Amino acid sequence: MGAVLIVDDMEDLRFSLANLVKKEGYSVSTAANAAEALEFACSSIIDLIFLDIGLPDAYGISLIGRLKEITPDTDIVMLTGINDAKTAVDSLRAGAVDYIVKPFDIIEFKSTLHRIMQSRLMGKKALLEAQEIGLDRIIGNCEAMRRVKETILMASEVGSPVLVTGETGTGKELVARAVHDSRNRQSGVFVKVDCGTLSANLIESELFGYDKGAFTDAKGDKKGLVEVANGGTLFLDEIGNLPISLQPKLLRLIEETTIRKVGGIKDIKVHLRIIAATNANIEEEIDRASFREDLFYRLNVIPIILPPLRDRGEDVLLLANYFLHTLKKELKKEISGFTPDACREMLRHDWQGNIRELRNLIEREVIFCRTGWLTLNGLNTPSAPPPPSKNPEIVTLREMERQYIEKILNLTNNNKSKAARLLGISRTTLREKMQSDQILTM
Ligand SMILES: Nc1ncnc2c1ncn2[C@@H]1O[C@H](COP(=O)(O)OP(=O)(O)OP(=O)(O)O)[C@@H](O)[C@H]1O
Ligand SMILES: [Mg+2]
Repeated sequence: MGAVLIVDDMEDLRFSLANLVKKEGYSVSTAANAAEALEFACSSIIDLIFLDIGLPDAYGISLIGRLKEITPDTDIVMLTGINDAKTAVDSLRAGAVDYIVKPFDIIEFKSTLHRIMQSRLMGKKALLEAQEIGLDRIIGNCEAMRRVKETILMASEVGSPVLVTGETGTGKELVARAVHDSRNRQSGVFVKVDCGTLSANLIESELFGYDKGAFTDAKGDKKGLVEVANGGTLFLDEIGNLPISLQPKLLRLIEETTIRKVGGIKDIKVHLRIIAATNANIEEEIDRASFREDLFYRLNVIPIILPPLRDRGEDVLLLANYFLHTLKKELKKEISGFTPDACREMLRHDWQGNIRELRNLIEREVIFCRTGWLTLNGLNTPSAPPPPSKNPEIVTLREMERQYIEKILNLTNNNKSKAARLLGISRTTLREKMQSDQILTM
């Protein structure tokens, strides 16, 4: 189905063309002059316009430009008189895709109609296929993940901010990249900022840049990441850790699409898409007044909530097979698959580290596999921390590390980003250490 508009001041012709288009299976509207045509173009989605060149209130060719401004994706075919060969060429130059010389026969009209509508359909299909490339990398078929993919497609068509929420390792970054990649326009660069690992004053100049003289050692101007991402996507990871002092600046960026550098006096206009991700419960942060509610609503225009792996049913097996397939190729190992017990265990396991945990486990198993079948024994017997030493003065290095991590976690109220920063390791490393040392936090 497609929508066609016929613009001609001759009522008979308008009427008979409209009938014909309707019979061919398209929806059709008519306009008797330029004013009506422009009004219609403003208010509806049109695939194709047949436009008479000699309208009473406008010269057809100048109308092409105005219509194209209002609805750039609409195809326009000019209807010209027999003596208008030159105008026909001009109209192509002005943006029409074709012209038909009056008086024309029905067969010619029909074939033009179908040819254009068909090629639009193919174009749309190709576009959809291109958009699905980004989605292909997201494995998952459960209801929740299907909805996630639909939302990604929808989000790729509009520029509004997206907030991706989910436990660690559920694929937030993967989804952010898919939103960026599947934009049908030229999508520009993808710039990632980890709000959890930069200090408040560093993050401000990193994000917004600075002007010469902002600090004593600021020798020249510096472009911030926001400016770098201009025309593309700014991915704000761990947004829950964005220092409260910077939140108004981000709010301003979203609301007014302008930024001001540190020490700067003028506003800079930017155009970018913002995707934020968090594994924290932002609503709790709002209650604790460490996250601004107005900023949350501004970011949460398109929410994408990633379910934990334990709630994705048989997707865990799909993912496991996908990782096995890619890893055995990468590591050049001959492996037939998972034992039935391994599959049962995967469906039962609670996957605290979600997809990342699954991937790491399979990688380990593939490396050490000798039988050609993966048993996933590692799932049942997590490596136990070593027993404490008899002499309380002397502890193993690992025990020492465990105690120190616990201490820092206590100090930071179990804020893992802060703890990781203090310990000088990444969050992922901290998480892995906590897992292998069986450190639990509330
Ligand atoms: N649905 C999926 N299909 C295929 N791979 C996935 C999927 N979800 C996640 N992954 C993979 O799992 C790993 C973790 O994903 P990602 O880094 O996007 O998670 P995250 O939610 O950002 O984690 P964190 O909170 O720790 O930053 C990556 O290697 C990613 O490619
Ligand atoms: Mg991440």
